[in-house]
Amino acid sequence: MSLPRPRFHLAPAQNWMNDPNGLVFAGDRWHAFFQFNPQGNDWGNMSWGHASSPDLLHWDEHPVALRHRPGEQIYSGSVVAGDDGTLTAFYTSAYDHGVQAQSRATSVDGGFTWTMDAANPMLDRGSADFRDPKVVRVPGGGWLMLTVEAVERRVVFYASDDLRTWRETGSFGPLGPEGVVWECPDLVRLPLEGTTERVWVLLLSTNPVGDDADPAGSAMHYVVGDLVDDVFHSPAADLRPLDHGRDCYAGVTFDSAPGGSAVMLAWMGNWRYAHVVPTSPWRGAMSLPRTLGLRRADDALHLVQRPVLPPLDDVELDSPAIAPHAVLEVRWDTAATGTMRLRLEGEGDAVVDVIHDPAARTLSVSRSGREADALHPDFAGVRTAPLVDPAAGALTLVIDGPLMEVFADDGLTALSHLVTLGAGPVTVSATASTSVVPTVRVGEARVGSPAPTAQEGPAAPAAA
Ligand code: FRU
Repeated sequence: MSLPRPRFHLAPAQNWMNDPNGLVFAGDRWHAFFQFNPQGNDWGNMSWGHASSPDLLHWDEHPVALRHRPGEQIYSGSVVAGDDGTLTAFYTSAYDHGVQAQSRATSVDGGFTWTMDAANPMLDRGSADFRDPKVVRVPGGGWLMLTVEAVERRVVFYASDDLRTWRETGSFGPLGPEGVVWECPDLVRLPLEGTTERVWVLLLSTNPVGDDADPAGSAMHYVVGDLVDDVFHSPAADLRPLDHGRDCYAGVTFDSAPGGSAVMLAWMGNWRYAHVVPTSPWRGAMSLPRTLGLRRADDALHLVQRPVLPPLDDVELDSPAIAPHAVLEVRWDTAATGTMRLRLEGEGDAVVDVIHDPAARTLSVSRSGREADALHPDFAGVRTAPLVDPAAGALTLVIDGPLMEVFADDGLTALSHLVTLGAGPVTVSATASTSVVPTVRVGEARVGSPAPTAQEGPAAPAAA
């Protein structure tokens, strides 16, 4: 089976994509760079691909922005926009001799062409696992760079006033599970709902390593804390899951987003099986953009994620078959319904169940059937998220070809998964543990971009 292309999520026309890199709002467009193999649809020859969008839902792909060179791959990093319109990119130079160091490049044409600094690498500790620079603005002026010492499970902080010279200020970690590497950190200052307060939150991705690596694979987390003397601190003893699904990784936020909001894109993939996902000639896609915030509930601060949804045409669910590019708004009375099960069945033998259990206070998503079993031994199975407000009978389910994102608890709970439902119609049925039938409103996504075919995507728009 070959899985269909998404229509309103960012995916390359062809070849391999993983992490989002250098997300920046500049020249009235959202620019996304990403880990990209210009030569094939497996991981390798890592470079930065480039796409831009007016609305975060329609993406135009541009030529490769930063290309690998003999002896050096270009790993993940970030971009910041200066007041004069100059964009500065920070990326990891992953050298064939084994060292990973941070480098710099600048663009004066809005991100379409880049000049790498002659003085690269800019920061070199002689480490083999020093990567993923994310540069963020510090209130009051200046810049902070977060990087990881991946194997040590530490985020290392550097401060700068000119984006050139950096002073190490300290580090955060290790904490949480062992047997993982830490990757792709980000630091965001999120509005706390119902207040005028903003609170610092660290975003972090972890990937199991070693002979006995956790088959659940890669996952994203967050930690609520504070920024003191240019270092993140937290009283937390553990990492909290950001997304309870199997396919949400390496998420980072846009620099210079309008209104200072924190808009995150994540790679919808899992290192455990990303290499065998049956798509061609492309492989890899991003999540929907999500605006991040915080909410106080049960005496703790929780991350809230609000997806940017495509415009929708309402369709009646009298024939239960929908196109696999849709948004389902499901509403039900939890007191009358009890446990609610939403089942999606695709072509071939592929089943996805979403089960809301108010008594157990859980929401779970399972992937099953022959297509799921065939993808990879660790692909099929159930993921269960705790619900903060189990009495609220409302969830949003987004399906776009092989991508499925479920949001519940008014943004407190997210589960993102690759699914094997295929390109044909998907049959939807909602059942309850009582005889009450939940209401499902289906919106068919109006964004329909046909598969792009250009070699490396269209060239830069003339106006850019
Ligand atoms: C995370 C990651 C990063 C690295 C990049 C390489 O998915 O492993 O740590 O920079 O991918 O493609």
